[in-house]
Amino acid sequence: MKTIGLLSGKGGVGKTSTAINLAAGLNSYGKQTIIIDANLTTPNIGIHLGSPSNSITLHHVLQGKNSIHEALYRHHSGLYFIPGSLALENMEKLKVNNLKAIKELKTDYIILDGAAGLGKEALATLEHCDELLIVTNPELPAMTDALKTIRIAEELGKEVKGIIVTRTKKDKFDISLRNIEAMLEKPIIGVIPEDPTLREALALKGSIVYTHPHSNAARSYLRLAAAICGQKGEEEMKLNWIDKFFKVFKRVPQ
Ligand SMILES: Nc1ncnc2c1ncn2[C@@H]1O[C@H](COP(=O)(O)OP(=O)(O)OP(=O)(O)O)[C@@H](O)[C@H]1O
Ligand SMILES: [Mg+2]
Repeated sequence: MKTIGLLSGKGGVGKTSTAINLAAGLNSYGKQTIIIDANLTTPNIGIHLGSPSNSITLHHVLQGKNSIHEALYRHHSGLYFIPGSLALENMEKLKVNNLKAIKELKTDYIILDGAAGLGKEALATLEHCDELLIVTNPELPAMTDALKTIRIAEELGKEVKGIIVTRTKKDKFDISLRNIEAMLEKPIIGVIPEDPTLREALALKGSIVYTHPHSNAARSYLRLAAAICGQKGEEEMKLNWIDKFFKVFKRVPQ
């Protein structure tokens, strides 16, 4: 089992979108993956994937009230996830160190969807992951915060495996991939283009890998998943498989 943490420094760069769609990609390669909403102050995995609002959440686990297994949900697509609580009162008496309970889960991959910033909750993701991926956008403010996150991770002895650049527009305002690698001194392992299907998938409470498998962003997330689990070049085969398997759920034509 490998625990992958997603951090960025800057907020709103695409960590949660990456957590969901990378997990769906890994699933489609036969790797069982659990997404954990480690964004404790503003969690939204449950909203993205439609978990019941009064359910047991990661917050209950961190408060010591429930076991990690009781907070585990299965999306109809087969994705497993542990949501955070939306209720303000559940923010109290959290023992972030209880996040170590994730080690009790049996799965191929855990993805920790981290919080923005570099505060206590983001550091909890850093502490409890095996390896860290930095999600960033090809813009200077995002890159500056990504660099700060990398420096802190290295100071704490955590391996930064690579960079995922999301929301690329390939226009003259994007910082080039070569410059991003030069600045951050880490390899880019995924590039996800700006794609409107992300918003549509949110409305459908699903992953674009299932709702819009032929979209540019879904293909990019499949490539990223393949790179992470070591199965390169099988993206087309996966798409055929996903088409067959999920045709019952397909509601939005491409
Ligand atoms: N490739 C993309 N193309 C278009 N929109 C995107 C893409 N990736 C993410 N978005 C949109 O950007 C917004 C922020 O994305 P997301 O919630 O994944 O970021 P985040 O880093 O998790 O934010 P936070 O730091 O607040 O947790 C969302 O509205 C999402 O739909
Ligand atoms: Mg998020």
